[in-house]
Amino acid sequence: MTLTARALRERCAREMDNARGFAGCTWLHRAFLAVPREHFVPDRVWWPARGEDGLYNLYDRTQKPRAWLKAVYMPGVPLITQIDDGAVPPTGPATGAFTSSISSPGVVIELVRHLAPEPGERILEVGTGTGYTTALLTHRAGDHGNVVTIEIDAGLARRARHRLHALGMSPRVVTGDGEQGHPACAPYDRILATASVRSIPPAWLRQLRPGGILLAPLDSPFGHDLLVRLEADGHGCARGHFVAAVEFMRARGQRAQRPYAELGWPAEADPGPWERMCVVAGPSGQRIRSR
Ligand SMILES: C[S@@+](CC[C@H](N)C(=O)[O-])C[C@H]1O[C@@H](n2cnc3c(N)ncnc32)[C@H](O)[C@@H]1O
Repeated sequence: MTLTARALRERCAREMDNARGFAGCTWLHRAFLAVPREHFVPDRVWWPARGEDGLYNLYDRTQKPRAWLKAVYMPGVPLITQIDDGAVPPTGPATGAFTSSISSPGVVIELVRHLAPEPGERILEVGTGTGYTTALLTHRAGDHGNVVTIEIDAGLARRARHRLHALGMSPRVVTGDGEQGHPACAPYDRILATASVRSIPPAWLRQLRPGGILLAPLDSPFGHDLLVRLEADGHGCARGHFVAAVEFMRARGQRAQRPYAELGWPAEADPGPWERMCVVAGPSGQRIRSR
């Protein structure tokens, strides 16, 4: 039997109920079921794990539409939409550094659940990618010019804007360096980064309203990124803790490695579990300590 996109979306939502604790979050269920994820996925995408030949395989919608659609709705699978900043054309199996993707359904749900946007809120997303997360945010927060998304790659931003418009959605899609935020529409109630950073850009803190929430993947010495959720204190700082272990592509300006001690992490070899750490970010940097 061939499952339709709608049936696959419903099945994916049921699978995430078991695995991700998204059961009971009615508004998020509604958004997930309302937004056609397949609409945001390019016809040709790479599978995120290497094959036996060491290359990432290409999924081509025109050649294998059912395999492509099934991949779109696998709860734990991100699909790669760009390698080496676009230097590798999507014409066959390839290798290189992943520079854009549509995050897996499970991870997107996790992000939006922790961000917990409310209807009418002003939201900034950093890292538009395909525009899929933007569509979920717009579905929840409304479409009154209150959702802004910024993407550093002009081609990706243009394609995401077209996809959103084709669904009748008109969030503001900006091309630019998201590390600077988008001051023209600040202050924001929520800021969500979908590219990871090594240190929280001070512009995000300046552009959050007092009590506003910032959610971002932060590089960590634990061997993976950690999703940090911070609340702005109204005096230029934000405080909070880590809510999940994740894996994201690095923001372009923060690709170079830096010593963790320089980034505010504890100097001890064993600082204890990340679940017990608190994070304070301010204009002059961040500080991470065990609670
Ligand atoms: C994991 S993808 C985003 C996935 C996206 N949210 C979606 O739903 O498809 C990360 C994106 O961040 C973008 N990016 C990297 N550095 C950036 C920066 N400094 N400002 C804005 N976007 C950036 C990349 O080009 C990439 O498209």
